[in-house]
Amino acid sequence: MNKRVLITGGAGYIGSHTAVELLGAGYDVVIADNLSNSDISSIEGIRSITGRDVDFVEVDCCDREAFARVFERYEFDSAIHFAASKAVGESVSEPLKYYRNNLLSLINLVDLMREYGRRNIVFSSSATVYGEAEQLPVTELTPRKSATSPYGNTKQICEDILRDSVAAYGTLNGISLRYFNPMGAHPSALIGELPRGVPNNLVPFITQTAAGVRECLSIFGDDYPTPDGSCIRDYIDIVDLARAHVAAIERMTGGRSKSSYEIFNIGTGRGVSVKELVEAFERVNGVKVNRRTAPKRAGDIAAIWADTTLAGEELGWKAERSIEQTLDAAWRWEKRIRGLK
Ligand code: UFG
Repeated sequence: MNKRVLITGGAGYIGSHTAVELLGAGYDVVIADNLSNSDISSIEGIRSITGRDVDFVEVDCCDREAFARVFERYEFDSAIHFAASKAVGESVSEPLKYYRNNLLSLINLVDLMREYGRRNIVFSSSATVYGEAEQLPVTELTPRKSATSPYGNTKQICEDILRDSVAAYGTLNGISLRYFNPMGAHPSALIGELPRGVPNNLVPFITQTAAGVRECLSIFGDDYPTPDGSCIRDYIDIVDLARAHVAAIERMTGGRSKSSYEIFNIGTGRGVSVKELVEAFERVNGVKVNRRTAPKRAGDIAAIWADTTLAGEELGWKAERSIEQTLDAAWRWEKRIRGLK
């Protein structure tokens, strides 16, 4: 069996951690990334952690001809597709960027996988497809809600493109992994999240505030219908999340018949509030995070967390790292990139 996996967007946050876990599990990887929202230094980080070589191709998956050359050059049966734009707010002001990048790169991938007779595709989806769910936790059967941003809409459309392609062509397998809120860094602190500019997401904002890069964390909203008034999310450790991709690849390469499409929630099964997370960060790392209550952020939902039963039963995967381990790694990574002790 060919044990090479193509990782599009593999220089990015989730992609680089997934590359490490795949290499650790005995796979070879080839990374295709246009470095539009990632840094080449992550490739070095992957090599240092694993002691393995990684093939890296700088390519835009929206450029079909250039992307096809990756298929010409490398044999692989499976691809994991991370390459996409991911800022919810930016997607509202620049919708065409999101529809073009996110849809075209997946369409090209599916098309080339067919053309070159490659079989397995894992798609990087998001819990955002559930919107504000009526019942918590959400299972994979919880109905999707109309997306509230072009970014969220691209995740829904891409899931549908993959589902319909698997059904129509008969030669592909597809798995969509719906991530909840990824956080943390590799325990080595050699790779982690590298947001450009002011972070949109909570954990990089916390770590940058603790490091003195940002003055004060705004906690968006304090009168949500939750026990402490702040929003609740399901924060999943980045290494655990990366391992879910290894489990998905193993399931697809495990000799099943072709043409199946499946969806799995990837979370911890536990909801944590914004205030609880900030307090846990302070406790674990012995640092102070300046914070204030700020108005609600447009588009935020009060609470969501995952039912992860299906991933446990079918993928044999579950989240293992504690919130303390995750927040410790997140802080060590931030200190390392800022040159702090
Ligand atoms: N938050 C703050 N202050 C900040 C940043 C965030 O209070 O400076 C709060 C938000 O209001 C929210 C929580 O922290 O309640 C988490 O916010 P994030 O932006 O980190 O994450 P979201 O839950 O909004 O979105 C994330 C991903 C999306 C994905 C979505 C799926 O960023 O890509 O989860 O649920 F679509």
